[in-house]
Amino acid sequence: MDDNTRAEENENGVEGINTKVAKPISVETILHMQDGTGEDSYARNSTFQATGMASVTDLLLQEASSLLHLPAQGWLSVADLGCAAGPNTISLANRVVAHLQEKSFDHGDALEFQLFFSDNPSNDFNTLFRSLPPLMTFSNLHANNINGHHIESSPGDECAKRWYFAAGVPGSFYTRLFPRNSLHLVVSFFALHWISKIPEIAQARSSNESNEGSRSLYFPMPEVIEDFTKQAHTDLCSFLNHRAEEIVSGGILFLVFLGRQTSSSLERQPASVTQGSKCYTTSCTSQDSRVAGHTAFLYHLLHLSFDDLVSEGLIDVRTKESFNLPYCDRDTNDIKKAVSESGLFTIRILEQQTCSFWSKEDKEEMEKSHEEVGRRCCKLIKSIVGSLVEAHIGSHLSQLFWDRFEKKAAENADYALNSYYYVANIVCLRRN
Ligand SMILES: C[S@@+](CC[C@H](N)C(=O)[O-])C[C@H]1O[C@@H](n2cnc3c(N)ncnc32)[C@H](O)[C@@H]1O
Repeated sequence: MDDNTRAEENENGVEGINTKVAKPISVETILHMQDGTGEDSYARNSTFQATGMASVTDLLLQEASSLLHLPAQGWLSVADLGCAAGPNTISLANRVVAHLQEKSFDHGDALEFQLFFSDNPSNDFNTLFRSLPPLMTFSNLHANNINGHHIESSPGDECAKRWYFAAGVPGSFYTRLFPRNSLHLVVSFFALHWISKIPEIAQARSSNESNEGSRSLYFPMPEVIEDFTKQAHTDLCSFLNHRAEEIVSGGILFLVFLGRQTSSSLERQPASVTQGSKCYTTSCTSQDSRVAGHTAFLYHLLHLSFDDLVSEGLIDVRTKESFNLPYCDRDTNDIKKAVSESGLFTIRILEQQTCSFWSKEDKEEMEKSHEEVGRRCCKLIKSIVGSLVEAHIGSHLSQLFWDRFEKKAAENADYALNSYYYVANIVCLRRN
């Protein structure tokens, strides 16, 4: 972990006060999902992403097979940006390759596939590589006399063989990652809501003592939201421009990421979702519809948990106030604007889906007790933002923080269980 960006561990233990003067965090260096395959890992706590992914994979496959020009022979390269590690990553790669492989048999000989798994350098690439299924190549294919119809992989088929060459590419997707014209299909699931940095103005505002308690993202003022919105726009434009260099003409960019409801589509959402969003934007004293309900709820819980550490004398208010997430909810208008400014892609699909964070099985378990709601909420959020909290207050205080977070989530169990929805932007672009 970067010394400049991580809070000093409190040498006096839990009795002392941890003071942190906010320094800009290096998102690329710090942000990663919880490592490994243990109970708290992202790999074991990514079911909402798995469900969201499963619900749009058919759309992705349909677009890819109808739009991509599959060569009669040779190879195709696919990149997964913000891949993390875990069953979602493997299952997505298996399904995409199996589907295109199947299609390629209709056109000629079997194609070979190169899959690039890309994420921030601090991502747990070791776990990812260890979980890759064994490679099958052309020689296996011919030796086993397998034709295309036998390699189709079904959703969740993690034990399947691997029909692609795999490589890891460390780096931020807000930079160039691949050579020019080298990719045919680029996908990114549940990653692009992370922006490249906390906007400097917002960071300065939250570090300024005179602004304590009034201007941080826990209570988002319009100008703070504006800073984040601008950063998100700059980032999306730069993401598109870099991908435009890397993707071949006619290639596909398929993106799914968290967002906020596009105002004109509000009335099409279920009433409870709209009420939920309003409830949580209002309770955070912002009337600004640019804050999504799920984000406001997350900040609400972060705020309450940090508040506990402050009142227990474990951190000071400035440490709390200077915590920010490099995160922004965009809507479909924001996306349209960036695509049109880039001028290098044609929009094929641009829509939104509203989904619950919990599966039916999750809900059944969570209905048993508020404590269970607290536990599951905590695991879900910790597996995603744990690295950022730890970078801010150190590992010891982090553990105390997550204990508080679990309790706060349990106290908000009704909302967490019944109204905790997210909005996903679903975008398919074709390189001109
Ligand atoms: C919630 S995980 C999604 C993982 C996987 N795609 C899935 O759907 O389960 C988001 C991933 O995006 C990565 N990420 C965030 N910002 C990034 C950036 N600028 N460049 C590359 N990866 C980034 C994070 O490190 C994390 O692994």
